[in-house]
Amino acid sequence: MTGLEVDIAGIRMRNPTMLASGILNETGRSMVDVAKAGAGAVVTKSVGLEPREGHPNPCIVELKCGLINAMGLPNPGIDAYLEEVAFAQNGGVPVIGSVFGGSEEEIAEVAKRMASAGVAAVELNLSCPHAEGLGAEIGSTPDRVKRICGAVKASVEVPVFAKLTPNTSSIVSLASAAEEGGADGVVAINTLRAMAICPELGRPILSNRFGGLSGEAVRAVGVRCVYEIFDTVTVPIIGVGGVTTSKDALEYIMAGATAVQMGTAVWSDGPGVFSDVCDGIGKFMNANGYESVEEMKGIAHR
Ligand SMILES: Cc1cc2nc3c(=O)[nH]c(=O)nc-3n(C[C@H](O)[C@H](O)[C@H](O)COP(=O)(O)O)c2cc1C
Repeated sequence: MTGLEVDIAGIRMRNPTMLASGILNETGRSMVDVAKAGAGAVVTKSVGLEPREGHPNPCIVELKCGLINAMGLPNPGIDAYLEEVAFAQNGGVPVIGSVFGGSEEEIAEVAKRMASAGVAAVELNLSCPHAEGLGAEIGSTPDRVKRICGAVKASVEVPVFAKLTPNTSSIVSLASAAEEGGADGVVAINTLRAMAICPELGRPILSNRFGGLSGEAVRAVGVRCVYEIFDTVTVPIIGVGGVTTSKDALEYIMAGATAVQMGTAVWSDGPGVFSDVCDGIGKFMNANGYESVEEMKGIAHR
């Protein structure tokens, strides 16, 4: 592996950046646009078995340091979404299908249908903090995480990545459980459970009251999670949370991430962030004598 190229569970990426689930991935066309803008891979929106409306507005609050969202996993259902997933492959970069469900069996079934659209891997959303009976509500105990990963591994041939919640006393236990269940990689982190209150109205801003915090505000938490997980699991780690610049991406890589995802930065700055971050990583490598991203992975543990 040379230069910016990385390999995650056998998936070759031209650079270590990916579009995170939930931003600019509603349509195949928007995912192609993000690939053309420079992302090394794109993750789809999280989809379930049946269509879901999500939470009513307001479902996003903008803060100085990021966003709080309580979208509530709106999606058209896996069968209707498959044509978008197939179209996304025209971007020429690996497409990773994000899925969720309320039980092991349901998640395994959605993953199987997602895999039928030719995705390079599936990402299990075990971490959304604002959807009843889904996401973090079923992904917060190691035993359940292990069983879900095991069920999905038995139903698909492609690599399986488990996206973990930071809203726990030990994300390391969840990562170990995912590895024991057969996951080929872990993704850390999803959003941190949060809320905002409007003093004039004297009530929470989000219709769901609680949402998930993302962006700059969560980066230090994400980096800490990746660093801790790297000490314990052997499968690749994908770092996510607050990556906006190449320095942010390098923090995650040096903590132990093989690649990083970006969501809120794409929302605020547009898809140009992918090439900006990659250019910055390349310049840093040249200036500091690194020949590959792999060489920098985890060096903060020395
Ligand atoms: C508006 C919005 C929607 C999101 N939707 C999803 C989703 O459908 N599935 C998922 O796994 N994560 C979802 N996330 C979480 C992101 O993928 C990511 O884990 C988190 O925002 C932290 O990364 P960031 O700071 O780069 O945004 C969403 C985040 C935002 C801001």
